Amino acid sequence: MNFDIADLSLAAQGKRRILWADNDMPVLAAIRKRFSKSKPLKGKNVSACLHITAETANLARTLKAGGANVALCASNPLSTQDDVAASLVNDFAIPVFAICGENRSVYYRHINAAIDHKPVITFDDGADLVNELHTRRKKDGHRIIASMEETTTGVIRLRAMANAGLLKFPVIAVNDAASKHLFDNRYGTGQSTVDGIIRATDFLMAGKKVVVAGYGWCGRGFAMRARGMGAIVIVTEIDPIKALEAAMDGFDVMPMAHASKIGELFVTLTGNKNVIRAEHFHAMKDRAVVANSGHFNVEIDIPALKKLSRKVNRNVRSHVDEYILKSNKRIYLLAEGRLINLAAAEGHPACVMDMSFATQAMEAEYIMENQTKLEIAVHDVPMEIEQRVSRLKLQSMSIGIDKLTAEQIEYLASSGEGT
Ligand SMILES: NC(=O)c1ccc[n+]([C@@H]2O[C@H](COP(=O)([O-])OP(=O)(O)OC[C@H]3O[C@@H](n4cnc5c(N)ncnc54)[C@H](O)[C@@H]3O)[C@@H](O)[C@H]2O)c1
Repeated sequence: MNFDIADLSLAAQGKRRILWADNDMPVLAAIRKRFSKSKPLKGKNVSACLHITAETANLARTLKAGGANVALCASNPLSTQDDVAASLVNDFAIPVFAICGENRSVYYRHINAAIDHKPVITFDDGADLVNELHTRRKKDGHRIIASMEETTTGVIRLRAMANAGLLKFPVIAVNDAASKHLFDNRYGTGQSTVDGIIRATDFLMAGKKVVVAGYGWCGRGFAMRARGMGAIVIVTEIDPIKALEAAMDGFDVMPMAHASKIGELFVTLTGNKNVIRAEHFHAMKDRAVVANSGHFNVEIDIPALKKLSRKVNRNVRSHVDEYILKSNKRIYLLAEGRLINLAAAEGHPACVMDMSFATQAMEAEYIMENQTKLEIAVHDVPMEIEQRVSRLKLQSMSIGIDKLTAEQIEYLASSGEGT
């Protein structure tokens, strides 16, 4: 078996981590049990470009139980859990091409190794694999039945490709499923971003002035959790509706130009670029901390920060770089501006990835069943899958809900009854 990982001897620790996460992924486990009998992916090659975490390992095990030949590569150079990668290779015979801290050329070499696996279904978190299949590896795109996209930034890239008429095969916007982003982006990113920042800095959140850029699903989740820990939260937005929502949720809302003078900790969660730039670094207080939890490391203008600095002290603490500006002001950049929750913590808790990856696994089955009907476009996850995943999750939490009565069904479908 071909693979490229950091250290195979870490496998035992990785296996413990995978099985621990599995305890908190009951929906995926139920699907795995069903897949091991029905084999919906029998003999199909599948490549996944995802964060190599314990939760992803359980998705890979599920796809394999369904009969697929699975290969994995990383969707971010800093998010690979090397012990998990070792266990996947050693204990589950799943080839992995990912090393934590890999440079850009190794990162792309690994994506290309996942393409060499000749997949018919792909999974992406940020669309780097699909992008490769549309550019340097165009010839390998012809065998793809469909691809799945896990994050907001990836879906934006794919919709742009579809609108420009460049998309070459169907993709499923798994991120846009309510059973994914309502929970994963909000509660998963919310909690794990706080976790990553605390692990990196050991700061007390209570009383800290925290500036949250972007009040989308991730931003809302993080703002809510930071406030819950006693932080004084300020939100910046470009969308008037989201800004209004943040204001009515009780947060201070203001432009970054103003917030940059007040904040002590800045976190970007926008999916946009250069949200914090030179003029903002200039305005910040001494010892301001800047982190990103959006998909790419472009939300903070790091080249501008470098230009403003007379000295950079790398790793003054793990995941913390100290930039000393020409004015002698210090700014601390966490995890080189990459996803702080994955770089400094463990990403989303398994409980929440259970829903995202259950949606992914059921969607893979759906793709096989509907392959001749799927047009080349960006598709939503069918509501039927979303409902099944949500029902299974409720069941696992021993939560029951009501059923519509026959009278209620009729009432909701009619327009006759009024005041
Ligand atoms: N850290 C993680 O584990 C994780 C998990 C899920 C998603 N993501 C990523 O986080 C990012 C946000 O995802 P989301 O689902 O919240 O997206 P979203 O579209 O729901 O929210 C993004 C928000 O940012 C706002 N925004 C855009 N440009 C801005 C700017 N210059 N200043 C202030 N606000 C701005 C938008 O108006 C929007 O409200 C994406 O890159 C996504 O891929 C990260």
